[in-house]
Amino acid sequence: MMKPTNLIILVLFYSRHGATRQLAELIAQGVESVPGCDARLRTVPAVSTVAEATAPEVPLDGAPYVELDDLQECAGLALGSPTRFGNMAAAMKYFWDGTASEWLAGSLSGKPACVFTSTGSLHGGQESTLLSMMIPLFHHGMLVMGLPYTHAELMTTSTGGSPYGATHWSGIAGDKAISEDEKRLAIALGRRLAENALKLAGA
Ligand SMILES: Cc1cc2nc3c(=O)[nH]c(=O)nc-3n(C[C@H](O)[C@H](O)[C@H](O)COP(=O)(O)O)c2cc1C
Repeated sequence: MMKPTNLIILVLFYSRHGATRQLAELIAQGVESVPGCDARLRTVPAVSTVAEATAPEVPLDGAPYVELDDLQECAGLALGSPTRFGNMAAAMKYFWDGTASEWLAGSLSGKPACVFTSTGSLHGGQESTLLSMMIPLFHHGMLVMGLPYTHAELMTTSTGGSPYGATHWSGIAGDKAISEDEKRLAIALGRRLAENALKLAGA
């Protein structure tokens, strides 16, 4: 139940085929397990090779598109993208390239953040993609966090899950289910983000 006094934790993701969206929903579950925090799921539109192409202002289904106000209103941010050649997807990079006004205003400065990704292959760039998403967050002055090895799954997982952020290995056809380790670590990351947002807010 959303309370007006609750902190908003923005879970911002791009997902073409749904794997990264599943991770976003698990992180939101972790956020919402913390009393006093609400998850706000938002996405970004796809980008087109035809620069003039436009899509409807509201997505046909799923999470609404993010607005710059969401960056001001949130008390923390989880940022996710599928891996594209070891990097975040262009659609997510395009969004960040349009945030100069928020950067100048310091809208995200001092707020906690974490990152998540999904890949087709297990060693195809999960950690490099997570690192690529941290870079704009550092420029915005965010306090970027991962997960500690007190989460035992980090040492034993044979699927996704990284101290750098939550990950999923979706397989060559993109149809592998989220594993128990991936699920537990994604929920734990969302929870950790929300708990630290509360501490930083002095709540
Ligand atoms: C253009 C393109 C580049 C990709 N690059 C990589 C890559 O470098 N490493 C990898 O493991 N998977 C790569 N993939 C696979 C996606 O990362 C993977 O299918 C992911 O789970 C998709 O997430 P989504 O379902 O949220 O869209 C690539 C896919 C596309 C379309």
